[in-house]
Amino acid sequence: MSIEPTPRGAPLMSVRDLTLDFLVGQRFAAARRVRALDHVSLDIYPGEIVGLVGESGSGKTTLGRALLGMIAPSSGQIFYRSDDLAAKGQAGWGPHRRDLQMVFQDPLSSFNPRFTIASALALPLKLHAICPEAQIPATTGDLLRRVGLRPEFGERYPHELSGGQLQRVAIARAISLKPNLIVADEAVSKLDVSVRAQILNLLNRMNRETGTGMVFITHDLGVARFLCHRIAVMYFGRIVEIGPARELFDNPRHPYTRSLVQARHGDLGAVVTDADEATLSIPDPAKACNYAARCARRIGQCLTQRPPLEPGADHRANACFVPLSPGATVSEGDPVHAAE
Ligand SMILES: Nc1ncnc2c1ncn2[C@@H]1O[C@H](COP(=O)(O)OP(=O)(O)OP(=O)(O)O)[C@@H](O)[C@H]1O
Ligand code: SF4
Ligand SMILES: [Mg+2]
Repeated sequence: MSIEPTPRGAPLMSVRDLTLDFLVGQRFAAARRVRALDHVSLDIYPGEIVGLVGESGSGKTTLGRALLGMIAPSSGQIFYRSDDLAAKGQAGWGPHRRDLQMVFQDPLSSFNPRFTIASALALPLKLHAICPEAQIPATTGDLLRRVGLRPEFGERYPHELSGGQLQRVAIARAISLKPNLIVADEAVSKLDVSVRAQILNLLNRMNRETGTGMVFITHDLGVARFLCHRIAVMYFGRIVEIGPARELFDNPRHPYTRSLVQARHGDLGAVVTDADEATLSIPDPAKACNYAARCARRIGQCLTQRPPLEPGADHRANACFVPLSPGATVSEGDPVHAAE
């Protein structure tokens, strides 16, 4: 089943029922399981920018890493085009490495300090035989120009560049392979506001010019709204709402999405308070809505059944038994049903 039945053809990547558990404290007797992804399904269409938002620990990075084969799921399927990569283990991603790239939050950590910028850009070009060896210097110069840097930056070492300049190089490195999908994990979070705007404009332009799709992980709803075509809202390992970016933010249907939107300035950290944390236990998260402990709209069903993420006719889906009405504004009062 496709979450969003659109006329845009076949998805580039599809995740079906993906579950990923971490075992923590294995060296001690009391090892416990952390469910980072809980039956996640998602389609990413060619050329589309899908934003993953949600508070810290909701599973955004884990999903991004699983998409790129950097971490193995416990169960579920990850299709690239029609190829089920997860069924083949790590080897499944081998032939698609070039097509699927990642840009990290901290660009400095993803560069070898002993290599110049030009060498760092040349390496993947050589590895994947993107151009004849003699053309590599010209190609690296072009790449730097495309991300707004002078070719002379190629002679510098990573520590000689600012965070924004280095993130541009990271983007240049990712696009040099002409990937079909880039997973960008908090790629602009550490940058100053003005540099952040430049990088966002750059990503926007790259997407329009090259058609490269993107999974854009961010805490910042304003950034997500600006850049992303669609947004998936994650909460404790589940996607609770998905839909076109503006519509989802202007007219959230899931109570958690609304609480995010209402939190001023898109600061997701503000959504969770200590008091909230104290009430987070619910009978059995596998058989209930995992937002029930915080939800003022909950009804009895929310504690005994898991709400499915079902698509509506308007390309939107939310996992809620008592969704907000389509016309509701973000300031509309709660609840319609009394909490037990
Ligand atoms: N390597 C790991 N070992 C054990 N648990 C992990 C590991 N990586 C992530 N987790 C746990 O999995 C859950 C999801 O983490 P993840 O990093 O995907 O969240 P996130 O949404 O990216 O958070 P943030 O916004 O803080 O980056 C969290 O409970 C986290 O503690
Ligand atoms: S109304 Fe029920 S299903 Fe919807 S978010 Fe609240 S607890 Fe979950
Ligand atoms: Mg993360």
